Amino acid sequence: MNPTAATVPTIDNQLVNGWISKSNLALIAQRTGTPVFVYSEAQLVKNVQRIKDAVQAAGLENRVEFYVPFFPNSNPHILKPLEQFGIGLLLQLPSEYELLRRHGFSKFIVSTGHLSDDDISFWAETGYPMFLSSLDEIEYLLRNHSQASINVRFDSLSSGKPGIKYNELKMLSDLLKKYDRELDCFELYCGSGNTVDNMISIIEQVFMIFRTYFPNAKAINFAGGFGFDYQEKNEYKKHFEWSKYLAKLCENAERYNIPPHVKFLFEPARDLLGDIGALLLSIERSMIKHPGANRVLTNGSRVLIPSAQYKERRHNVIFLDSTMTEIKAQNVPAALRGRGILRHDYVLPGDYMVPECIGAGDYMLILDVGAYCATQHMEFLNIPPAAEVLIDREGSVYLITEHGGKFDKWRHLLPNRKELSNLVEEESAVQEVSK
Ligand SMILES: Cc1ncc(COP(=O)(O)O)c(C=O)c1O
Repeated sequence: MNPTAATVPTIDNQLVNGWISKSNLALIAQRTGTPVFVYSEAQLVKNVQRIKDAVQAAGLENRVEFYVPFFPNSNPHILKPLEQFGIGLLLQLPSEYELLRRHGFSKFIVSTGHLSDDDISFWAETGYPMFLSSLDEIEYLLRNHSQASINVRFDSLSSGKPGIKYNELKMLSDLLKKYDRELDCFELYCGSGNTVDNMISIIEQVFMIFRTYFPNAKAINFAGGFGFDYQEKNEYKKHFEWSKYLAKLCENAERYNIPPHVKFLFEPARDLLGDIGALLLSIERSMIKHPGANRVLTNGSRVLIPSAQYKERRHNVIFLDSTMTEIKAQNVPAALRGRGILRHDYVLPGDYMVPECIGAGDYMLILDVGAYCATQHMEFLNIPPAAEVLIDREGSVYLITEHGGKFDKWRHLLPNRKELSNLVEEESAVQEVSK
């Protein structure tokens, strides 16, 4: 635990200058209650615009495509504005596809883990580009879906994700020759949270693969991994330096003679979504003080944002009184307890500097929870998921996900157990009747 690492942003840069406002929070707490994830459409648009400006400055408008992964923030209401900017979504499950079609989305790529034959056939039927991760999967596609585009994910930089390994590239190019096909696009994901210099050094490796093995590919997918600094308080320093990165990309594309018709794809998540969300929790009682170990009881839980724990991620937090005004008082280090009994049920890892006078009726706001947070809710402590609220560009506040119900964990529990052999007979009887 590192009490000194805890950071409290000032009222100036978050509650006044940022998108989070005191009045919105008061309305949300009154109408929705807590715990609640709050998202800002204006911040999403600002983050998109920052990248678009960098694309324009690099002269790459007609050469780049962006696909935001759906799994880090799986709420279609939040991602809706991406459509108007021509930004697509990256999918991994057929259920995501069905849901998003119902919400009117139509621009997708598919980048999953390893896929079964049935899944490959499902995605091939949709016609959307699907990035495959093993030679076996690619051979199945070539044999069974001769019209499908061929897109492959590499793991030559050891991100630990599914993907074709560096020593398989020659076999892949031979396999494609056997079927007289060319690779349409290859993707290379190099792990999350990379600095701009790391990402720049990866560009050269990617272009080397293009030149050596797949010089006729139509596109290169640089995937995600664009760093976002959770602890930085300054908005501009928090984000990835797209202008520096894209300028280098252009420079290297020229140096490696990448033909101008080759498109560049990107799949950023954290950098676009991280600071569009905040989690509002209630404080349930005065600080619990034991020698050397202070604890603050919140109505949150580690299951609301599990990724913070397993990534050991520090977030900026703000403590607010019942009028949603930031509490400025003597701070002491304290751990932030969740509602569950588990020894490890803390909403964030480590100690944070907490106003000593904190008590029931106060609030805590966790910043930068727009990616890999609400979507990762787990159920093992039986704690229902938090509600989600969206503030649109005009400042109107919408409920977009209801609070989970107290019996959510048991929503599939049968009132009475059913013997399986009878179940099969019952089902065939139902089918007979419906014929
Ligand atoms: C294939 C792929 N693309 C994009 C991303 C998004 O990465 P980031 O959040 O680092 O931008 C991920 C994250 O896991 C990924 O697996």
